[in-house]
Amino acid sequence: MRSLISILELSVEELDQLISTAKDIIAHPENYWDKCAHKKLATLFYEPSTRTRLSFEAAMLELGGTVLGFSEAGSSSAAKGESVADTAKMISCYADIAAMRHPKEGAPYVAAQAASIPFINAGDGGHNHPTQTLADLLTISREMGRLDNLTIGLCGDLKYGRTVHSLIEAMSRYTGIKFVLISPKELQIPGFVRFNVLERHSIPYTEVTSLEEAMPQLDVLYMTRIQRERFDDPWDYERLKDSYILDTPKMALAKEKMCVLHPLPRVNEISVQVDNDPRAAYFRQALNGKYMRMALILKLLEEAKENPVKDEIDTTDLEYDRVCHNPKCISQTEQELPQISRVTDKAANIHRCIYCEKRT
Ligand code: NCD
Repeated sequence: MRSLISILELSVEELDQLISTAKDIIAHPENYWDKCAHKKLATLFYEPSTRTRLSFEAAMLELGGTVLGFSEAGSSSAAKGESVADTAKMISCYADIAAMRHPKEGAPYVAAQAASIPFINAGDGGHNHPTQTLADLLTISREMGRLDNLTIGLCGDLKYGRTVHSLIEAMSRYTGIKFVLISPKELQIPGFVRFNVLERHSIPYTEVTSLEEAMPQLDVLYMTRIQRERFDDPWDYERLKDSYILDTPKMALAKEKMCVLHPLPRVNEISVQVDNDPRAAYFRQALNGKYMRMALILKLLEEAKENPVKDEIDTTDLEYDRVCHNPKCISQTEQELPQISRVTDKAANIHRCIYCEKRT
């Protein structure tokens, strides 16, 4: 049995398999109507969500299963101070599989360690969002007809944008991928993506501040929201919030065959005029998210049935004597959680927290 906490836990073969299951669900939905009969999905959302939670719930319902859960921390025992690990143990008594969104980075990892059912990371702080990436992959595959040999522009909040981090991790493993990272200097990608993924695997990437300049070379443009809730200083948000606005004049600079993605919600970074452009794929992307979540639920429940014992964690290069100082890490709030780091670069002596991946 396994959970899905980071997109890197799925091999490229498994990603391709999930995409082909999703395409089969689209073609023959009736074959899946009772695949999860008598199974329950718990949705544990400690942060706001529209698409992710509802698409998880729709996914389970369309598989013939049922759903239970909460959509804000205030209505769960978290408001009374219950730990993530204790909540995960409880949920294991009531559901067969769970999806968790949490503002603390690493919270779904802690839940998966404590639980006896598969846990899915539905977004943890500014860290990862693997199931959004599944939606993104199916969208790119359907819109562009391939997942290799693409120039992918990622624009906006690349620092806190968890969808961006997981998408780079996934796409870096396909051949012929180039990234154009378009952001203000203050919102560039964090070290765990830059060094652990791009630099380590020598993936070609450029960093620019102008969206106009990047437009003509892109096959995929992934827009993101500047996320007010992740900023420590509200003035930084005010200063940066209107950094990029995709409008029809900018779309005129793009290739005829390209697609625009956005995990949504959008605030003002894509003009509504762009919605009518056939290259605007973000609403189709939201629908694709439901199909990929159906494929994922099927896979994880199937694996749990075949092997109910939890997969062991990889203990290579773990260290127990370093402290994580990231205030947004779950290790700062969870009761008696051991501080654990992993050596990610021996030569440079780099250690990263196993929960949030920040340097320790
Ligand atoms: C994203 C998220 O929550 O990280 N939305 C989503 O899941 N579809 C992006 C965002 O909130 O800006």
